[in-house]
Amino acid sequence: MSDHGHGHGHGHGDQAEVLELDAEILAEHTASIIDWLPVTNPRHVVDLGSGTGAGTFALLTRFPEARVTAVDSSVEHLKRLHDKACEQGLTVDTVQADLDTQWPDLGTPDLVWASGSLHHLANPDQTLRQIHDTLAPGGVLAVIEMSGMPKFLPDNAPESHVEQHHHDERVPHRGADWGPKLTAAGFTVEGERTVTVHIERSPAVERYAHLVLRRRLDPEGLERALRRDDLSLRAERTVWAARKASA
Ligand SMILES: C[S@@+](CC[C@H](N)C(=O)[O-])C[C@H]1O[C@@H](n2cnc3c(N)ncnc32)[C@H](O)[C@@H]1O
Repeated sequence: MSDHGHGHGHGHGDQAEVLELDAEILAEHTASIIDWLPVTNPRHVVDLGSGTGAGTFALLTRFPEARVTAVDSSVEHLKRLHDKACEQGLTVDTVQADLDTQWPDLGTPDLVWASGSLHHLANPDQTLRQIHDTLAPGGVLAVIEMSGMPKFLPDNAPESHVEQHHHDERVPHRGADWGPKLTAAGFTVEGERTVTVHIERSPAVERYAHLVLRRRLDPEGLERALRRDDLSLRAERTVWAARKASA
């Protein structure tokens, strides 16, 4: 989820907060996605476009024996991730890289997790080939993408039109069908699953709605929207599990 931190005069701090709310609100969904993956005991996991670590920490919880490498272009996000890992006594390798211009040396991971990150890239088809080259034989790539933008308002709310029509031209690959792209990059798609998320109003949902809707509504509209009892988070995430052939 969580693309709302970009632009409109709000900076990295905002995006980091959105990513962390997202991680908190979706923790159970993320855990169930990881459980569903056709992977047992990976030795090395790469979280590609890790942000502040929503996936990194969920993966470490599920696979405590694994070495986990977090890759992102944002120094700030990686610093937050690193500090959180230290606080919890966990070890995470962090790699700062702009994947549009460089492909870092990531070793030969047996699981690559890319959540909400591939659609940001200028040439995701090329990145999928680079992931394929990097994975160990038989390794798995998990792609997690939102099927649309998250909605906080019921469809009949007067302000809900801003959620129906909002789309972000800066992320042209959002909503793409990753199945054919994965196949073209040499993967076998072993599973595809769409998870519907509907989370009732809570302090975290309110804060998330505030951060997102304040970019789209005037102050009065925002106040009216945030007062609604039926404020909730509705979203759809699709997951693809794709395998590289064994040697
Ligand atoms: C929507 S966030 C998702 C973060 C995290 N995976 C999550 O699930 O919370 C997208 C992340 O991709 C990173 N990103 C965007 N373009 C990138 C690039 N060219 N190279 C590396 N990372 C990039 C951003 O910095 C951001 O942390």
